[in-house]
Amino acid sequence: MNDQEFDYLKQRILALAGIDLECYKSQQMRRRLEAFIAAQGMDTIPFCSVLARDPGALAKLRDFLTINVTEFFRDREQYQVLRTVILPKLLRRTDRLNIWSAGCSRGAEAYSTAMILQEISPGQAHRTLATDIDEGVLAVARKGGPYSPSDLKNVDRSLLLKYFTKSEEDLMVAPAIRRRVEFRKHNLLSDRFEPGFDLIICRNVTIYFSDGAKTKLLQGFHSSLKEQGVLFIGATETLLSAPSLGFEWIGKCFYRKSASSRLPQAQEAAAPLPRAVEGR
Ligand SMILES: C[S@@+](CC[C@H](N)C(=O)[O-])C[C@H]1O[C@@H](n2cnc3c(N)ncnc32)[C@H](O)[C@@H]1O
Repeated sequence: MNDQEFDYLKQRILALAGIDLECYKSQQMRRRLEAFIAAQGMDTIPFCSVLARDPGALAKLRDFLTINVTEFFRDREQYQVLRTVILPKLLRRTDRLNIWSAGCSRGAEAYSTAMILQEISPGQAHRTLATDIDEGVLAVARKGGPYSPSDLKNVDRSLLLKYFTKSEEDLMVAPAIRRRVEFRKHNLLSDRFEPGFDLIICRNVTIYFSDGAKTKLLQGFHSSLKEQGVLFIGATETLLSAPSLGFEWIGKCFYRKSASSRLPQAQEAAAPLPRAVEGR
């Protein structure tokens, strides 16, 4: 694909799918798109014409671009820290947590958090907003599934029995948990961010975002979090620029919005664990 074809393809994808590829790592995205278009047995320009007239082809491309792999309690160890350290600490400050699962895919991460909250603060009404750019995954999330056995491999048996119902071979999230999560379409690269969150979970979403897009996203998350609010990211991600953006590292995958008047200077590797995580 030459430069002109790549530019044209980016324009078509923005117009047809609402995804701005300027916000993604350019060379990586180009290679991925070349491989995808070649696998369809086409060249770039004919592929653009197909996208304009075939909604199925557009949906397939959108799936490919957004990569919506997910599972419940992805990275068990980090969910354990969420359960035993982060959420109890946040709950000491408010009895109605406001949580945002950003880039939620089929809802596994938002539902995992809702299950933990039901376990540690039963009956308490927290709010969990879960958003994604992809309507297809949101439709599954809103119905509470179905989820396959591989989506559920990290779920403890006791939680499976309490919070899921069986539908043929697959499992659905039980209505009591489903009702606790509100799903909404939202593009992290262009839509407005709501303020007032105690916890933002954004995991495995930004791997193909450009550095500029990631920085803008973090600034948005910073404004959206309450003071001392927590950002929970993926196990393979790090926020090297976190201190300069007003976040302090408080343990693997967890960053806290620091008081703006005293931004921490230390780099992530040197930052001490918070007392809560140390004392685990
Ligand atoms: C790999 S999944 C991660 C799902 C979940 N956070 C997890 O870790 O299990 C990435 C999700 O990010 C969503 N996504 C990608 N770009 C996005 C954007 N610009 N705005 C909102 N969601 C986006 C995709 O649709 C996809 O569902």
